[in-house]
Amino acid sequence: MFAKVPVIVAPMAGGLSTPELVAGAANAGAFGFAAGGYLTAGALAGELARTRELTQQPFGVNLFVPNEKSTVDIQAYRELLEDEAARYGVEPGEPDWTDDNYPAKVDLLVESPVSVVSFTFGLPSPEDVERLKAVGSKIVITVTNPDEARQAAERGADALCVQGFEAGAHRGIFTDDGSPAGGPTFGLLALLRLVQHETDLPLIATGGLVHGADIAAVLVAGAVAAQLGTAFLASPEAGTKAPQREALKTARDTTFTRAFSGRPARGQVNRFLSEHEGPAAYPQVNNMTKPIRAAAAQQGDAEAMSLWAGQTYPVAPRGPVADVIAQLDRELRDALTTAAQALDRASSADPQ
Ligand SMILES: Cc1cc2nc3c(=O)[nH]c(=O)nc-3n(C[C@H](O)[C@H](O)[C@H](O)COP(=O)(O)O)c2cc1C
Repeated sequence: MFAKVPVIVAPMAGGLSTPELVAGAANAGAFGFAAGGYLTAGALAGELARTRELTQQPFGVNLFVPNEKSTVDIQAYRELLEDEAARYGVEPGEPDWTDDNYPAKVDLLVESPVSVVSFTFGLPSPEDVERLKAVGSKIVITVTNPDEARQAAERGADALCVQGFEAGAHRGIFTDDGSPAGGPTFGLLALLRLVQHETDLPLIATGGLVHGADIAAVLVAGAVAAQLGTAFLASPEAGTKAPQREALKTARDTTFTRAFSGRPARGQVNRFLSEHEGPAAYPQVNNMTKPIRAAAAQQGDAEAMSLWAGQTYPVAPRGPVADVIAQLDRELRDALTTAAQALDRASSADPQ
């Protein structure tokens, strides 16, 4: 399904996954996903056209599956955000619930197919799975626990993207139980093992992978490829804004928060994240904080931006996408050789 190098450059919505990043991944022998989340169908069509100008290689598109509107009260948070907004000279956004233009984007992908369509935040409908498969697209569904894996397999996924809790940005959870992580949390290796008990589908491992040896580890654990997001945030091709690029160089913890969007996501700890919790109401909270995040970015203040990053961000590579992919490929091969040598040494050692 994928490419020469078992690396997938993760979709990163919000302007981070540029056509240059997606095409750069494809041209370097990896596989890239355009991020359809937050875009109108027209804007996504523009990104696909530009990506097709930059590469002849296949690439994928990722969509956010809309969830039902939360009934959690958001008024108190809205009032808190007024002070935050005033601090940056803006007004909070309207707490609208939207479907993220999802139906129109599925229609676009039926008319203008790509090789793989991946979904996060839930299951695509059986009809949409059928329509996309009928035009030749493979279906990938992100899962964060064994039950979601079983549901995704039953829905007809061709592969699963298995997301460990180390991962940067939003968790792909199908439903949100209101707890800080929105549901049960599994480390990536534990989740790969549990999911393989549920299904024989090909698995893409994601979460906290920033070195070729990490990719070796998940391949040995049964994955067919590794999906990396944070490893490409510092690439010049990524749309990462300057204050976030600077924040990536600073030593901070990462944690789950719903302060920015209403949905649990892992980001670097900053002032906004420390001072607010945020109700379980996505995308209403996301829409309310949008002008604040944009103004903070504009003013060069990383302390009110959503600094999404995985747990291993401090040791992530930095460089052009093609160089990072070549480096990961070398490290992966070296790690597998080293592991084989370690096994040989262990088996030839004299018993004491
Ligand atoms: C800035 C950022 C934005 C992301 N946006 C998306 C997205 O739009 N869709 C998606 O399925 N995953 C998204 N992810 C999650 C990735 O698919 C992946 O699970 C995650 O990057 C893996 O952890 P890592 O960042 O430690 O590599 C995003 C991750 C980051 C870091």
